[in-house]
Amino acid sequence: MTQDEMKKMVAEAALDYVEAGTVIGIGTGSTANHFIDSLATIKHKIDGAVASSNASAKRLKDHGIPVLDLNSVSELSVYVDGADESNHYLHLIKGGGGALTREKIVAACSHKFVCIADGSKLVDVLGKFPLPIEVIPMARSMIARELVKRGGQPVYREGFTTDNGNVILDVHNLEIMEPVKLEQELNNLPGIVTVGLFAIRPADVLLLGTEDGVRTLT
Ligand code: 5RP
Repeated sequence: MTQDEMKKMVAEAALDYVEAGTVIGIGTGSTANHFIDSLATIKHKIDGAVASSNASAKRLKDHGIPVLDLNSVSELSVYVDGADESNHYLHLIKGGGGALTREKIVAACSHKFVCIADGSKLVDVLGKFPLPIEVIPMARSMIARELVKRGGQPVYREGFTTDNGNVILDVHNLEIMEPVKLEQELNNLPGIVTVGLFAIRPADVLLLGTEDGVRTLT
């Protein structure tokens, strides 16, 4: 089975977590795109969706799924999104697609966070995938120096601007032994908008695509 087939398989499995008559949150990336395509088959079941990026909003609209502003919604029953890495505690690295800030906001508003990923994303220790950090443009060099002090090797994602008008530093060479602590520490640096660590609010369920089918971790 290819990686993409595994992504499709978990995206379809995530439909089981969609509650009728509710608004749901939608992530960003190729796995989330599969979920949006699957969701289209049951679109009449839900009241609408809140998207974590302009790209996902467009895909939802193209399928005729109502896209709602988060400010007009009091709660989301579930948030479904992919990840770049997950450890066994369902702490995640996200932001490979650059949508980490809105992803973290929508996840925070959701009762349940269902992460969907192919089997290669499960790791023992987070950090092999470079940690994306969204930064206010004027603070880029200052934050890069702070990250070097912490043993990281930040690389500016050139030519990329987030949906919020900011830039991304991808931080290599981190072995993240204490994800919650690192997320809290980096959250405190002025200039950082969002750290791509989802550990303070981890996923509640991880649906992992494997050769043997969908593995569910909670
Ligand atoms: C986007 C993300 C994605 O969930 C993450 O990059 C995984 O992407 P894919 O589903 O394409 O493997 O965090 O910001």
